[in-house]
Amino acid sequence: MKPLRLIFLSLLVLGVQPAFAEDSLLSPETMNYIGYGTVIVALIVVIISMLLVLRAVKLVTTALSDAANPAFATLTKEEKLAQRKAAKNDKWIKLLSLKPLSEEHTLVMEGEYDGIKELDNPTPAWFMYLFYATIAFGIGYLLVYHVFKTAPLQYEEYSIEVAQAAKAKAALLAKTGAAVDEKTVKLSTDAGVLASGKQVFATRCSPCHGMAGQGIIGPNLTDDFWLHGNKISDIFKTIKYGINTMPSWEKLLSPKEMSDVSNYVKSLHGTNPPNPKAPQGVKVTD
Ligand code: HEC
Repeated sequence: MKPLRLIFLSLLVLGVQPAFAEDSLLSPETMNYIGYGTVIVALIVVIISMLLVLRAVKLVTTALSDAANPAFATLTKEEKLAQRKAAKNDKWIKLLSLKPLSEEHTLVMEGEYDGIKELDNPTPAWFMYLFYATIAFGIGYLLVYHVFKTAPLQYEEYSIEVAQAAKAKAALLAKTGAAVDEKTVKLSTDAGVLASGKQVFATRCSPCHGMAGQGIIGPNLTDDFWLHGNKISDIFKTIKYGINTMPSWEKLLSPKEMSDVSNYVKSLHGTNPPNPKAPQGVKVTD
């Protein structure tokens, strides 16, 4: 028995080991299958051993009851079986609150219709237990949800979940930059940000400010002169809300696009493009 046990245990350990190894040669799926397989085999072994234990307990109890009841012990195997079966039937009859056929006459109700009689069978015990269980559940439910209010009702549960979702949404928006506004916009020289800003500028802003930001209808965005401030937050605000003949972009651009194009405008400073528009506003130096 001992060597068998050893072999079985080592197989088990060897089987699970690749599933936990960090840089295994096996693919994660294969490792998963090995893991699942091992768990299933282990469960089957547990079930088999439980059945064995049950069998052993049965043998011991019969031996004990035979010892306690010598008359029973002298019966033949068939007689013993028949007695056990009868005892089992009794249990079922009790559980279902059934009367054996021989006692059915005690249940016959008064009155007879064209020779048809009725039995007054009691409600089965299992049904009554189920019924009492629903009452107990109802009382428990009332206490938990309405008296002590230890758990939220559906409406509260709903609003809790909605609040959680809103929080998760805000976190996600903050992460992707979609919630940026003039208070939170940050200066960036990230190539990706500037590339995205350049694209927005070329399609949306160049008609008035020129491809290079040199100024056409709108002012030159590359010089030191500013009408509405040159801080990233000032520029974001000008773009978002618009001012005088400069349109508002709040509804046409996403917060991220406005932030990107603000940074792109900042990056244009000092680029000295050809044909610059004459300075407008006051000179601002960083
Ligand atoms: C319809 C033409 C037009 C378009 C399109 C336009 N602008 Fe303007 N922009 C202007 C005008 C005109 C002004 C000056 C506003 C004023 O007189 O106060 C201006 C001002 C600005 C200012 C402030 C400059 C300063 O000196 O303070 C910034 C920054 C700016 N625009 C950026 C942009 C960006 C970025 C876009 C594209 C998203 C854009 N503009 C699209 C016309 C335009």
